[in-house]
Amino acid sequence: MSFSFLVREYINWLYHSKTRHGVHSPFVYRFIDECLYKKTDTKPLAGILEQRKKLSKDKSILKYKDPGAGSKTKNNIHKKSIEVSVSRLARYSMQEKRFILLFYRMIQYFNYQTILELGTSLGVTAACMSRANPAIHIDTIEGAKPVADIAKNLFNNTDVNNIFLHEGFFDEILTGVIQNKVYDMIYIDGNHKGEKLLHYFHTLTKHINPNGVIIVDDIRWSASMLKAWYEIQKHQKTRVTIDLFKLGLVFFDDRLSRENFLIRF
Ligand SMILES: C[S@@+](CC[C@H](N)C(=O)[O-])C[C@H]1O[C@@H](n2cnc3c(N)ncnc32)[C@H](O)[C@@H]1O
Repeated sequence: MSFSFLVREYINWLYHSKTRHGVHSPFVYRFIDECLYKKTDTKPLAGILEQRKKLSKDKSILKYKDPGAGSKTKNNIHKKSIEVSVSRLARYSMQEKRFILLFYRMIQYFNYQTILELGTSLGVTAACMSRANPAIHIDTIEGAKPVADIAKNLFNNTDVNNIFLHEGFFDEILTGVIQNKVYDMIYIDGNHKGEKLLHYFHTLTKHINPNGVIIVDDIRWSASMLKAWYEIQKHQKTRVTIDLFKLGLVFFDDRLSRENFLIRF
């Protein structure tokens, strides 16, 4: 997505977006008022947020084949080799703190019990989500082993016991991980190609609780991601979507009428 396109998108989004005022859906109004705009007591997250800071200063280099990129040759998919510092991953790959805290609040507000994350990265988001309620179950999938190892360390160092980290590529292990499972919250934050996003979304709508949410990150990462986001809004199971510019929330409760909300956050 070019910078100028992104700026135009942002201005357009800003012009049409609202705060809680002007929102007529009681479900969305309450969500904004009681969850989205609430402050988070970060005391239970202090240890994890401390580790997050450490990761952002860690200059060690990780080498792996990027599971998100690939170019097809005759019989093979060649993954691009990358060398990247942990600090760089923390800066560019890790979720922003305000969204991590939002997910934490959402788990408590909606009382979500089962969570799936596609793309663990360094594990900070999953660790924070797990603190929202130690009794919940979190499956998270990461395709880059050295990255998954850092996440595992983080979980061990912060006494997190309710996260199940599955190492492997989505296309190879997702079906096995989700078999016979229904999730309350699914967070798609891995492969940033629109067609892949749609594929995962369609698959995962069969595994989402009707009262649950699918969170799609980086909806404006590329033209294909934005197109996929518009497709998601039209999916037969989709009811309410909330566009927070960087990411989108998709709710499926069929008592809600189909509507897209652009909400400032
Ligand atoms: C943007 S980061 C995830 C950030 C994390 N969810 C957070 O909230 O901080 C995306 C991660 O997904 C992984 N990933 C991308 N494509 C993948 C695939 N096809 N299979 C498995 N992992 C993948 C990458 O290695 C990367 O660590």
